[in-house]
Amino acid sequence: MNTSVRDKLLASIRTIPDYPKPGVQFRDITTLLGDADAFATAVDGLVGPFADLGIDKIAGIEARGFILGGAVAHRLSAGFVPIRKKGKLPHETVRVAYSLEYGLDEMEMHRDGVKPGEKVIVIDDLIATGGTAEAAVKLLRQIGADIVAACFVIDLPDLGGRRKLEALGVSVRTLIAFEGD
Ligand code: PRP
Ligand code: MG
Repeated sequence: MNTSVRDKLLASIRTIPDYPKPGVQFRDITTLLGDADAFATAVDGLVGPFADLGIDKIAGIEARGFILGGAVAHRLSAGFVPIRKKGKLPHETVRVAYSLEYGLDEMEMHRDGVKPGEKVIVIDDLIATGGTAEAAVKLLRQIGADIVAACFVIDLPDLGGRRKLEALGVSVRTLIAFEGD
C-alpha cells in the first residue's frame, strides 16, 4: 500500500471521540463510503493481490463488511455469502459463539453458503480484538472452506486481532492502522 493511498484512506475516515462510550475513538467509515474516490481506493486495496486466484466467494461480516464485501465480490467475479448475527438467516445454518466486550453473541451462515474446498476471502471494515473475524473463520472452516485471506480496511494493532487470526493460520491483509486505540 503506497503512502498516497494510505493518506487518502486516513483522510476519509472520521474519528468520533468518546463514542459509544468515554475513552473510545470510534472510526467512522461512513465518510469513506460516501466519498467515491476513497470508496474505490478501499475496494481496490482489498482486492489487492487476489484478482487472478480464482476466488469463489467473498464472506462479508455483518454489517459493514456487507458493503465492502459486495463491492469486492463484484470486482473479483466471485459470489457473496453473508455472515450474520444470529437469527437473521432463513435456511439451515452453522453457528458459533464469540466474545464481545460484555458477554457472548453468536454468528451464523447458511450451511450451503460455501461448498467444501471453495476459495474464500473474509471481508470486514475493521479488525480490533479479532473476535468477530475469528468467529467467521470458525464458521467457514466448519463447512470446509479454503480461507485464502481475511482483509480489512482498518487495523487496530494494539488490540491484537491480526495476531489472533495469524495464529489460526489465516493470512491477513489490512490497508491502514490506527495505533494507540
Ligand atoms: C465492528 C467492526 C467489526 C468488529 C471488530 O462491528 O465493524 O465487525 O466490530 O471488532 P473485533 O475485532 O473486536 O471483533 P460491530 O460489532 O460494531 O457491528 P456492525 O459492523 O454491525 O456495526
Ligand atoms: Mg462490524
